[in-house]
Amino acid sequence: MANRITVDGTTPDLDGPAEAIRSGQLVVFPTETVYGLGANALDSAAVQRIFQAKGRPASNPLIVHVADIDQARRLAVHWPETAQLLTERFWPGPLTIVLRKSSCVPDAVTAEGATVALRCPGHSVALQLVRESGVPIAAPSANLSGYLSPTQVAHLAPEIVAAAAWIVDGGPCHGGIESTVLDLDSHPPAILRHGLIGSKVLAEALGIDLQHGPPRNEDPPRSPGLLLRHYAPSCPVALVESGTDPDAVLDRMSLHRYSKVAYLMVHRAEAPQPAIRLVAMPDNPELYARVLYDTLHQIDAERFDVIVVEMPPDTSEWNAIRDRLQRASIR
Ligand code: TXA
Ligand code: MG
Repeated sequence: MANRITVDGTTPDLDGPAEAIRSGQLVVFPTETVYGLGANALDSAAVQRIFQAKGRPASNPLIVHVADIDQARRLAVHWPETAQLLTERFWPGPLTIVLRKSSCVPDAVTAEGATVALRCPGHSVALQLVRESGVPIAAPSANLSGYLSPTQVAHLAPEIVAAAAWIVDGGPCHGGIESTVLDLDSHPPAILRHGLIGSKVLAEALGIDLQHGPPRNEDPPRSPGLLLRHYAPSCPVALVESGTDPDAVLDRMSLHRYSKVAYLMVHRAEAPQPAIRLVAMPDNPELYARVLYDTLHQIDAERFDVIVVEMPPDTSEWNAIRDRLQRASIR
């Protein structure tokens, strides 16, 4: 069973977790987006333990967390100007960049691919852990593969707790959804996953239009994790466009036959039917992201039969949230 440490001061004692990383063990740690399940990125056997613990397909590459730009540069064969510009501006922070990998990055990390995903986390505990470990840390979100990411230690699955040598509890993650993944190895750069940093802001910083999504018909797919059902609670999720009349939706879906329905809405203060649990979601994308996974974790724990979600507006500021909801609804 994992050792635990709760972090509240400014310079916590992370000797135990840092030593665990160096010795090939797994550590759960907070980031500004979601909790990560970390291992020494330069140690293939340690990285394989992450895949085992999560039940993650070996074809889905991991993000490598670094302490600064210098450490990132050592993991890439080539550091383009776009990388310099974006990392100076957005690191530490929720931006992951994909570049050609250097030979020191094990194939297990990149799923045998030629590129590596790099991110310098904007959470003081995550940064301190990477620095004190002295090695880059490969870390996916600390959930079982395909399931919702944890934004608090209470969300961790028992299998993850059992697999970790240490759990560093830093309280709730501020961002609430994962980092933006930007492929700088394609031309023009491609957004592989929408995230906390909007694609508009990135395009403006680079002064060019970005591609959205991985290049088509690519074999093998550049980012296999992005094609699948993902970020999903156990309860089925049904999406309805914003502004749809909730009573009509419930009738159409014959939801009266369900005993427990949760309805996540942005615009309405009253439940359409008394038996339905109405969850009022923030009408601002940042605040919505912060509470989304926690809301879904709570509903899941109460074993609802279905979660109906009113989609937020189809505008670019809501891209990341709409993306997560869409993937959560795939069955
Ligand atoms: O916010 C985050 O990014 C969190 C925290 C812990 O840092 N991490 C995270 O990792 O979300 P993960 O493994 O759950 O998601 C990483 C995504 C996957 O969809 C994966 O396919 C993609 O990034 N990815 C990783 N390496 C890649 C690469 N070399 N090329 C393309 N996509 C890659
Ligand atoms: Mg994940």
